[in-house]
Formats: sequence, structure tokens, C-alpha cells
Amino acid sequence: MVGWLKNAIFYQIYPVSFFDGNGDGIGDLIGITEKVGYLKDLGVNAVWLNPVYKSPFKDAGYDISDYYSIDKRFGTMDDLKELIDVYHKNGIKVILDMVFGHTSNKHKWFIKSTSKKRNKYSDYYIWSDSNFDEYEGKLIKGLYYRDGGYLMNYYASQPALNYGFHSPDKPWQLKYDDERLKPLREELLNIMRFYLDMGADGFRFDLAGHMVKGEKWDDDSENGNIGNAWFWNTILGTLRKEYKDKVYISEWVNPKNSVVKCGFDFDFLTHDTPVFNELVRNEINTNLIREIELGDNYFSENGKGTMKNFVDYVEDLYNVIDGKGYISSPTGSHDEIRIGTFKSDDLIKTIFAFLLTYKNIAFIYYGDEIGIRHNFNVSRDGGSIRTGTRTPMQWTNGKNRGFSEHRGTYLPTNKDKNCSVESQLKDKNSILNTVKKLIKIRKEYSCLNADGEQRFLETGYPAVYERTDGKTTIRVYINPSNKTVERFCNFKEILLMQNTEINGDKIALGKQSFVMIKV
Ligand code: NOJ
Ligand code: CA
Repeated sequence: MVGWLKNAIFYQIYPVSFFDGNGDGIGDLIGITEKVGYLKDLGVNAVWLNPVYKSPFKDAGYDISDYYSIDKRFGTMDDLKELIDVYHKNGIKVILDMVFGHTSNKHKWFIKSTSKKRNKYSDYYIWSDSNFDEYEGKLIKGLYYRDGGYLMNYYASQPALNYGFHSPDKPWQLKYDDERLKPLREELLNIMRFYLDMGADGFRFDLAGHMVKGEKWDDDSENGNIGNAWFWNTILGTLRKEYKDKVYISEWVNPKNSVVKCGFDFDFLTHDTPVFNELVRNEINTNLIREIELGDNYFSENGKGTMKNFVDYVEDLYNVIDGKGYISSPTGSHDEIRIGTFKSDDLIKTIFAFLLTYKNIAFIYYGDEIGIRHNFNVSRDGGSIRTGTRTPMQWTNGKNRGFSEHRGTYLPTNKDKNCSVESQLKDKNSILNTVKKLIKIRKEYSCLNADGEQRFLETGYPAVYERTDGKTTIRVYINPSNKTVERFCNFKEILLMQNTEINGDKIALGKQSFVMIKV
């Protein structure tokens, strides 16, 4: 297990929208470097950057046309090196995004693979050999001279790279361990070596559960994802021999597959918005935070939800993971509705109190720490509804919210006046200052890190749980509802509280309240 991970407090940066360092209206690497002081002050010690490589941006950079170049909108390779150096000097690790499920259709590998004549790249992508073939409606045909169609992943402009099939049943489908697939794996390793040698601390892997075809990402039965497990163990096994202390994170949403079978360090439990499918929303997030359609999610004022399903789910996960890695419930991502949407500041702080104290790797999506709300009226770079979560960081209340000097910004800035770093730094009870306090406490008490033990005492309103490292035990009460509830407890010290009154051993939890006590 990578040592620094249990204490990691991650921050996700969407580079287009963090800070515009050169004043052209679009966020960039020098801008991210410039803002290191803010992150240090916030208390985070690791960042993940969404893709910054050369791209036509048909899917916000998740369509890479050259893995070895930085897109000019973000700057240069030297800017990335500088960013990594400066962040390291400030004690912050840097994780890059690796998109290996597909490339852009503008990538030279793909262009060469469209040729009728066999060449080095013919097997880099999954091509059927006749225009009459079908594969889950995802074969794109008729665009190139090569016979047959290519398999797409998410958008048609994202041809799937070829890692083979679980059980091939057509001549054009290769078995996942076929020797012909090895050159592509070598390419991936070399790309990663390039960035690890530069100093990157690891990667977040896009679509990690969709590499080998014919396997279902959510099949965690004994025979499920055998090909993906073979693929990732081969890749990560090689890297782990060559590099120490690097971290590999999966975008999978199934730690039983990603962490246990494939060897990732941790997995995200995300994707609970209407843009993703029912199963992920209902099983994994169990109406915890964002069930905006049903309105009975746990973190809502009406107090109709329960945390029980989520807690059962997480307890089962930890049993199966059995120390092999971790889970993380990020506050959001570039794919989700903003966590603060339709919520009061107090409720947002209550959510943070939970996400930063329950047993998981802390992960904050940029701007959630000031409660940026979703903008439902924008779409750019293939983002559709997701674009609303990618709007510029709100540094000030002035021009372009302090994000850029340019007359306009690439994505529109939100207008809500006081939702900014500038305003919230001045208010001791702001979301930002509450998040800072939560991070500080989390760092101070090792029982709150991802290794600390966890025991739930209640899962309603309030939810009550204890974290312990054997020496210190911290008890947390969470009450997102409008009900006032009382509990009794003898404790040693109050660490932090909101909307709570304490008299002797009586703890009166008001609306949208939380309290952390040392017991
Ligand atoms: C997941 C990424 O997070 C998302 O933004 C992207 O559109 C898809 N993978 C496809 O790469
Ligand atoms: Ca710029």
C-alpha cells in the first residue's frame, strides 16, 4: 500500500476553469501553478488534473490526439514540469488523467489504422472485417476505406483502443492476452513512464472498467472481469516494479473489481446524477446526496432518507477490500451535478462534515469548497449537462470572478455574488472556512484518516459514527434534516460543531447540524 495515501486530501482541478494565467479567457497550467498558495492554505496535499494533452475537445480532452503534447490552450510541457515542481515544493502531489479506453479519431494511430493496407496500427483499434457486422450498436461504418467498422466507446469520435475480448466469437475479435495486443500495451507503459519520470505521482484512469470488451464493469462475481483483471495486473504490475510510491486510481465505481481484482489503489464511488445509469445511482449512492429527482436523499432537509443502505454497502466493500486499497466519495467531479445545487450553505457544510470524516479518501472537486452551484444553461466541448459543473472558479466578486483578465471567458462565470473565495475567507462560518477547519482536524487526528476504524451507531437523523485508531476516538453526529434531535454523551472535548447546543452531556442538534467530539 502506498504510504502517503491514507492521509491524502485530494482536490480535483478542471484545468479549463481554475485560473487563467495568461489572460486569454481560458484556464491553463501556469494559472494552476500560480494558485498553489490557495490549495496549500486550504490544506489539500494532492491534486488530480483532468486531461491537459493535445485534443480536438469533442469530449473536453477525453479525446486525446497526442499523449506526448500539452494542448496549446493549457500551455507547454515545460509549464507542466514547472507545475509539478512547484506543487511538490509545497507538499502537494500531482495526479494526471490517463485516457486509455480510446483516443480521438484525430490521433495518428487511428488515422493510420483506417488504412486498407495492414500496418503497425491495424490492430491498435477494434475493427470488424465486414460492414455487415454488428457489436452492441457501437460499430461505426462507412467513413473510411478500410472494410468493416471501428468500435467506438463514448462518442463516435472516440474509437476504442484494442485490448481484446473476454471470449472472442468472430475472427476480428482477439483474445485479451493475444500477443498481437502487446505493442499497444507497451505504448501505454511508455506514455506513463514519460510522465512518471517527469515527477507525476500517479494517474486516474478513465473508463478503467471498459478496457477488455465483452465484460460487464459491474460484474464482480468470481468469473467477472477476468480479462480486465489480467490487463490491469499486467500494466500496474509492471509499473509497480519500476516506480515506488505512485498511485493508480480507477474510474470504475466498483472497488470489488478495481481494487480487489485489478490492483488499483482506490476507486471512486460517484456518478449519482441523472446523466449516469440507474444502477449506479441507486445501488451505490443509495440516495445519499444527489437524488434531486426523488427528493428523498439522505442529505436533504425533509429528513425522509436513510443512510442505512449506503452504510451497509460501504461495510460490505471494506470487508471484501480487506486492506488491499481504499474507496473515495468525492464531493463531485466534472461529470456530476454540483453538490451544492438546490442546497443551503448549512446543508452543504453538513455534507462536507460527513465526506471528510467518514472512512474514505478525502476528495474535493474544485469550487465545491465554496459551494458553487450548477449552471444548467451551458454546453461546450461535448459536455452537455455536465458543462454546468465545469464553470470557472469564483475567486472574487469582480470581473470574471477573478478567474481571468480577458473580456470574456471560455465557459461563462456564475453570477451569484457572494459565492467566492474573497467573500468566504472573510466569514468565519462560510463553507470555505468550515472545510478548512474540517481538513485541519482530519490532519490532526489520525483516527480520521482512511485507515482509521469506523463504527456506525445510527443511520437516521442523526447519523452517528465513531472513528478510532485505538488511542483516540472521535464521534460524529450528522443531522441534515429540519428536525431538532437530542442525544446524550459524555465526551472529552468538542472539536467542531454547527447549529448544535451542548449542555453537560446533552447534545441538541438543530437543523442542518453536525458535531465532532472526542469521546
Ligand atoms: C469519463 C470521463 O470522466 C468523462 O468526462 C468522459 O466523457 C468519459 N469518461 C469518456 O472518456
Ligand atoms: Ca489562459
